[in-house]
Amino acid sequence: KVIHLKDYQAPDYLIDETHLTFELYEDRTLVHARLAMQRNDAAASSALPPLLLHGQELELLSLSLDGRPLGLGDYQIDENSLSLQPDAASFVLESTVCIHPETNTALEGLYKSGKMFCTQCEAEGFRKITYYLDRPDVMSSFTTTVKADQQRYPILLSNGNPVASGSEDDGRHWATWEDPFKKPAYLFALVAGDLWCVEDSFTTMSGREVALRIYVEPENIDKCQHAMDSLKRSMRWDEQVYGREYDLDIFMIVAVNDFNMGAMENKGLNIFNSSAVLARAETATDAAHQRVEAIVAHEYFHNWSGNRVTCRDWFQLSLKEGFTVFRDAGFSSDMNSATVKRIEDVAYLRTHQFAEDAGPMAHPVRPDSFIEISNFYTLTVYEKGAEVVRMIQTLLGEEGFRKGSDLYFERHDGQAVTCDDFVKAMEDATGADLQQFKRWYSQAGTPRLAVSEAYDPSTQRYSLTFRQSCPPTPGQAEKLPFVIPVKLGLLDSQGREIPLRLVGEGAAVGTDRVISVTDAEQCFTFVDTPEQPLPSLLRGFSAPVKLDFPYSRDQLMYLMQHDSDGFNRWEAGQQLSVQVLRELIDQQQRGEAMSVDQRLISALGSVLDNDRLDQAMVAEMLSLPGEAYLIEISEVADVDAIHAAREHARRCIAEALFEPLWRRYQANRELSRQTPYVAQSEHFARRALQNIALSYLMLSERREVLAACQEQFETADNMTERLTAMAVMVNSPFEAERSAALATFAEAFKDDPLVMDQWFSVQAGSAMPGGLERVHHLMRHAAFTIKNPNKVRAVIGAFANQNHVNFHALDGSGYRFLADQIIMLNALNPQIASRLLTPLTRWRKYDDARQALMRGELERVLASGELSSDVFEVVSKSLA
Ligand code: ARG
Ligand code: ZN
Repeated sequence: KVIHLKDYQAPDYLIDETHLTFELYEDRTLVHARLAMQRNDAAASSALPPLLLHGQELELLSLSLDGRPLGLGDYQIDENSLSLQPDAASFVLESTVCIHPETNTALEGLYKSGKMFCTQCEAEGFRKITYYLDRPDVMSSFTTTVKADQQRYPILLSNGNPVASGSEDDGRHWATWEDPFKKPAYLFALVAGDLWCVEDSFTTMSGREVALRIYVEPENIDKCQHAMDSLKRSMRWDEQVYGREYDLDIFMIVAVNDFNMGAMENKGLNIFNSSAVLARAETATDAAHQRVEAIVAHEYFHNWSGNRVTCRDWFQLSLKEGFTVFRDAGFSSDMNSATVKRIEDVAYLRTHQFAEDAGPMAHPVRPDSFIEISNFYTLTVYEKGAEVVRMIQTLLGEEGFRKGSDLYFERHDGQAVTCDDFVKAMEDATGADLQQFKRWYSQAGTPRLAVSEAYDPSTQRYSLTFRQSCPPTPGQAEKLPFVIPVKLGLLDSQGREIPLRLVGEGAAVGTDRVISVTDAEQCFTFVDTPEQPLPSLLRGFSAPVKLDFPYSRDQLMYLMQHDSDGFNRWEAGQQLSVQVLRELIDQQQRGEAMSVDQRLISALGSVLDNDRLDQAMVAEMLSLPGEAYLIEISEVADVDAIHAAREHARRCIAEALFEPLWRRYQANRELSRQTPYVAQSEHFARRALQNIALSYLMLSERREVLAACQEQFETADNMTERLTAMAVMVNSPFEAERSAALATFAEAFKDDPLVMDQWFSVQAGSAMPGGLERVHHLMRHAAFTIKNPNKVRAVIGAFANQNHVNFHALDGSGYRFLADQIIMLNALNPQIASRLLTPLTRWRKYDDARQALMRGELERVLASGELSSDVFEVVSKSLA
């Protein structure tokens, strides 16, 4: 069933108070709910509408209205709801249902992860816990009592503040929690288990003490410090940058092993995938440390952008997610290198979100319709949504944006609102007109921005003409022009920035400015331009568009050296690499010998020789565009040629730059040996350069590099160095050393599931021949289980999303394998099954033979029996 935004209607009834009691047992859970409800439009005189409560997979044991037990004739029940006719405008509805968390493999609602009980209610999981108005515009206060066996579940948690607890004679105990802030049901949480916690405290800007607790299973108690530090930094940052203070007396994080997503912002009780909270040097890489910091911040920031101000309906999801991703990105760039953070985010967006925009599931940041909301927790809603907020900030300036966010939080505190309300607050606070800008919320697809130039030496005028267009997407054939903020500068032949003065302006306005492209075609003319300049366009990636300007390779090299914008220096290097790689791909396809443009190698050589450059930037500049990105920008992607071209270029670089790579590797490895591990940006930078250097050096297949790699593998005090050393051996021809390293690693870490996930994904993602065989073998390993989403992602996900040559094998074996897994997971865990479909939805990108094979597998999934709404929606839209 398709749900449309245009059909939104305010709820007929509201729930003022929600009182829940959970009785947790090993073979069932009883949920008692007492809901104090009233008609929404209290003044309405018309007849009372029927009350329709959501409910799924619930066994109703009793129901009463204002204390009067209801019998079979008094209500109707179907698969998704319970309805009855109230006889008063306000009433108390009490129900008891029986549910089965112990057999809940979908990991939605109340379920068990290992020995503990936990919940995931967003978006529509609460209806699997009790009959309720499970929609975000129904906000209620919650009081929750949890009762369970004291031995097995000594810790009983829910949202808000703890208010009472006690024991009973039968070995059971209970705790009651009260959340004074009204919230929608999707923010409800409950945890029961044998957990230990790390405690700390935080004093808010107004001087209130907040207790901070991170709960984990006992074996992980030594992996919480990084998350705790990140949490305190996030709390301070949100006060300083957004003026947002925490509101309860306690803030808790719980780590669970079985979790469909990264984490969840339940009020006062964030529940995290353990991969997004646990980190220490010996077991988690630098990337994992940074991911923990970002996700802890993200969930914490939701306390305001999501919880205090929430969404009216799920079409508005980006209201909280886009904004909160934008906020966590701002935090990460303040904590680490801002340019590197921007580079990572843009590379991710262009590789994955642009591909989503170009595929059958393309949708606007605010979708118009969906079948299953879980399918819309997408790169478009999250990452493109964050870009849309970033553009608002670019247009309003930092100060204007802060005024807007202050007004938004103040005006809508305690409300469930829309993306329009967000934009309206930005407009009202600054006087800006964002009406045309709002097309970013309603039009899907990645706009193209083609730019051409003209210079007239006689008038010293330089013009840039911008032409924007946007390809059709499902349901949207034609698009209207977007507002595209283009940050730019002009470089002269001495590498200096030319002051920018547009025709009609009195004086130059700096050398770096933002212009807004609002028409399909628009020309901007700069005066006082003494020579033909070289434009630096879309600095910092000021808009999520595909920019097209006919740069020559020499011009790109010039920008790599002279652009004052760090992001654009990197971008120039990427574009140069793309041009060179495309040439190699063509040579491959024509059966010619590949030859790498020496200019790329010398450009990378000067980057490597520049000891003053931030080492993280050097590492980024040395990284060639990934295969997934090269696939995305291809008309028809030839995965084998792309892989061969990229590997050839890497080998040529490794050979030509062996000396400087070796020098920088050894210098940094020496520092790593001398310095104990620190999770800080200069250390991340040093290790990033060291590790990318090692991965190039190993391509030389020289024995001394292998020896260095083994030394790093065996003696490193941290996972960043150890894992990279293992990964480069896995992708090397040194067979005996590779097997030995894999065995040593597995033996050392067999009891740490998160480390084993890394061991799995290095192998499943390896482009070495025999990929599918390896994956089958990994799935028989003792540490693998299909029921754990992290394991599925580490093995099946890594194979299908990162191992392009093996997954796209021409015999269709990769596609068949993936479809088999999806069919099995459809019954076990629909959300995970649906996510695994993504690579198959991209079938249009490949040659006819592969297209037919991929479609064939999608059709097989469609015909495989009873499909979840999650899988059905993606498969049917992909085949449409
Ligand atoms: N709100 C969570 C976050 O972004 C994600 C919840 C995802 N839930 C889901 N059913 N897809 O922090
Ligand atoms: Zn979020």
